[in-house]
Amino acid sequence: MREYHVPVMLTECMDALRVGEGKLYFDGTLGGGGHSSEILRRGGRLIATDRDMEAIDYARMRLSQVTEWSGRYTLVKDNFKNVTEVLKANAVDGLDGAILDLGISSHQVDENMRGFSYSGNGLLDMRMDRDQYLSAMTIVNEYTEEELSRIIYTYGEERFARKIARSIVEARKRSRIETTKRLADIVKSCVPEGKNGHPAKKTFQAIRIEVNNELSGLGEAICDIVNVLRSGSRIAVISFHSLEDRIVKQTLKTLASDCICDKSLPICVCNHKASVKLIGKYKPSAEEVAKNSRSQSATLRVAEKL
Ligand SMILES: C[S@@+](CC[C@H](N)C(=O)[O-])C[C@H]1O[C@@H](n2cnc3c(N)ncnc32)[C@H](O)[C@@H]1O
Repeated sequence: MREYHVPVMLTECMDALRVGEGKLYFDGTLGGGGHSSEILRRGGRLIATDRDMEAIDYARMRLSQVTEWSGRYTLVKDNFKNVTEVLKANAVDGLDGAILDLGISSHQVDENMRGFSYSGNGLLDMRMDRDQYLSAMTIVNEYTEEELSRIIYTYGEERFARKIARSIVEARKRSRIETTKRLADIVKSCVPEGKNGHPAKKTFQAIRIEVNNELSGLGEAICDIVNVLRSGSRIAVISFHSLEDRIVKQTLKTLASDCICDKSLPICVCNHKASVKLIGKYKPSAEEVAKNSRSQSATLRVAEKL
C-alpha cells in the first residue's frame, strides 16, 4: 500500500520545537499524522487541525493504534486559520509549540479522484475541504479569461499565463473541461517542454491555490499562533513554493522587529515591539531529498516567542 504521506524534515522540526514530555503542541496541518505522531511518540500532547476529513479519518486511525497515546490528542476538522476559535473551544490558553507543514499531502496528489494531479486522470476538483463549493472545475469553466490569466500568472508565476487562459476559454467553448488530463493537455499545448518539470505544474499549482484560498490569511494565522505560544516556545513553518515562503518570511520578520515604520520616517511612530526572535531557515538534507524527492522544495523557518 502506498504511504499516505512521508513527513518532511521530521527530525529538524522535532529538534527545533524541542518536543518534550507533557508539553502541548498545535499541528495545523495534520495530513497523514507524520509530525503529529512523532510529537506523541516523544511524550508531547497535541491539538491538530486539517481541513480535509480524509486526513482526519486516516490520522485518527493511525494514532489510535498506539494505546498509550490515547487521551493525549484532539483532532479537529477545521482550517488552521481558525486557530484562535479552535483552541478556545478546546479550552487551550497556551501552547508549547506549533507546526504548519503547508500545501497538500502526497495522498491528495496521488489519489486521482481528488483531482489535483497533472500526471494522473480524474475529475477536476482540488478541494482540500470537500464540503466547500468552489472546485477547480468551477474555476476552469466559469472564470473569465482575464481572471484565469491573472491567477495562473500570480499563483503559478507562469509566463505563458495569457496563452494558457486563452486556450482554456477556446477549449471550453467546444465542451466543458471536466478532467485533469484534458486540462493538462490544454496547458501542455501552450508551454514549451522545459527543464522545470511537467509543463502543467505551475498552472495546476495556481488553480489549487485559488481553489483553497491558500495564501490569504496565512500571515494572520501565523500571528494568531504566535499570540498563544508560551514564552520560550517555538513555531516551525514548512513551505513548498516561493509565494508561500515569502509570506512566512515577511510575517516572521515583522513579528521579530521592534519597529515597522516606513524607513523614510525620522523617528519611530509605530510602537511595534518584537514578539519573537528568528531561530533559522533550514533546507532538507541531500539524503532526505534522495529518499523523498517531494521534500526538495521545502523550506523550514523557525521562530521563538520572546
Ligand atoms: C503537507 S500535508 C501535511 C503532512 C503532515 N505534516 C504529515 O506529516 O503527514 C498538508 C496538509 O495540510 C492540510 N491543510 C493545508 N492547508 C490547510 C489549512 N489552511 N487548514 C487546515 N489544513 C490545511 C492539507 O489538507 C494536508 O492534509
